[in-house]
Amino acid sequence: MSVDLSVTFTGIRFPNPFLLSSAPPTESESNIVRAFEAGWGGVVTKTIGLHPVVNVAGPKTKFLRANAETGTLSMNKGRAGVLHSSWNWELISDKTLDWWAPRLGRIKKQFPDRVLIASIMAGSGSDKELDHWRTLAKTCQDEGADGLELNLSCPHMDREDMGSNIGKDKQLCSFVTKVVKDVATVPVWAKLTPATSDIAMEAGAVFAGGADAVVSSNTFPSLPLFDAESLEFEMNVDGLVSPGGLGGPAILPQSIAKVAQMTHAFPDRSFSGIGGIADFRDALNYFLLGCGTVQVCTAAMLDHAIGPNVLKALTTGMTAFLEKNAGRGWTSLEDFRGLRRDRVVAHSRIRRPEDSEYAGGHDAEGYSS
Ligand SMILES: Cc1cc2nc3c(=O)[nH]c(=O)nc-3n(C[C@H](O)[C@H](O)[C@H](O)COP(=O)(O)O)c2cc1C
Repeated sequence: MSVDLSVTFTGIRFPNPFLLSSAPPTESESNIVRAFEAGWGGVVTKTIGLHPVVNVAGPKTKFLRANAETGTLSMNKGRAGVLHSSWNWELISDKTLDWWAPRLGRIKKQFPDRVLIASIMAGSGSDKELDHWRTLAKTCQDEGADGLELNLSCPHMDREDMGSNIGKDKQLCSFVTKVVKDVATVPVWAKLTPATSDIAMEAGAVFAGGADAVVSSNTFPSLPLFDAESLEFEMNVDGLVSPGGLGGPAILPQSIAKVAQMTHAFPDRSFSGIGGIADFRDALNYFLLGCGTVQVCTAAMLDHAIGPNVLKALTTGMTAFLEKNAGRGWTSLEDFRGLRRDRVVAHSRIRRPEDSEYAGGHDAEGYSS
């Protein structure tokens, strides 16, 4: 039986369900061209905005590794050790919309069968900001973008009306989505912040605003660690830090928990999963919970900047998985997508031991007087 890696997600056909997420791997035309040449099914551009962007005076991203013997985590001990996570405080693209527009058109003409999603971001505090969303959306789709991803999730923003500050406010989530939907001629995805207590609420809000899909997770709010000798943060500018975002393997369990909350609440909606994916086993977590595509950042950054080997691991892994399960009649992602979504239940539904065996928190040892 032949296997089929292609998927249709929010009405868009992808040659495979693996995308590069909005981040350094998709920050330039040459990177995106290389990504498509390597075989990625789609890319989401680095987020495009209309405000001037000036990044911090120092490294924007570092990678935390665990010492294989001691387990100690550090960003500054070279490439030895096991990758734990990425930490970044990079802002959105520092290139203007005028820079991006012709490049989107050129890329799309060169790769008509690959999916190009434009990630966009503006504010929400004034009519001018709402117009920014409209301008960004219209320009990108006019240049041939197959879809739009709304960045409602950047964790390091000073502005109250942008990024994850929109993603934390259900009304703004709905409102901004609707503003874009009103002018969009292509599918609109909303990338939500994981920094809320019940992400299903914000998912419901963007769906109410008309979103075609929810994307999760952006990075998790976090700080670099202190160096025990210098007592300085391992990453800082003039001794100072501000909260940034954690990505990579460390966030995989946290991110699938967010996805499970949403796919359980909205089993018939579309979700694109991100967080800690480096091979098919990682991606499978998202697919079994109901995601129709997945996206990759950290692993690709560490693999020739655009992840050719990561993509190969994903596609060969998926092919082998389908071949192994051919006996069940599985030939494509739709045959196993969401298969384990209903295994996540309320804690009270988890079986307790039989009464006779259970001493329930009152074990004699430790409580005897
Ligand atoms: C250096 C860096 C820059 C990023 N920039 C953006 C961005 O501009 N827009 C966005 O939506 N997400 C951005 N992200 C988040 C990633 O797209 C992704 O959601 C996150 O890193 C989790 O995926 P991962 O575990 O594969 O890294 C960035 C991540 C990193 C590490």
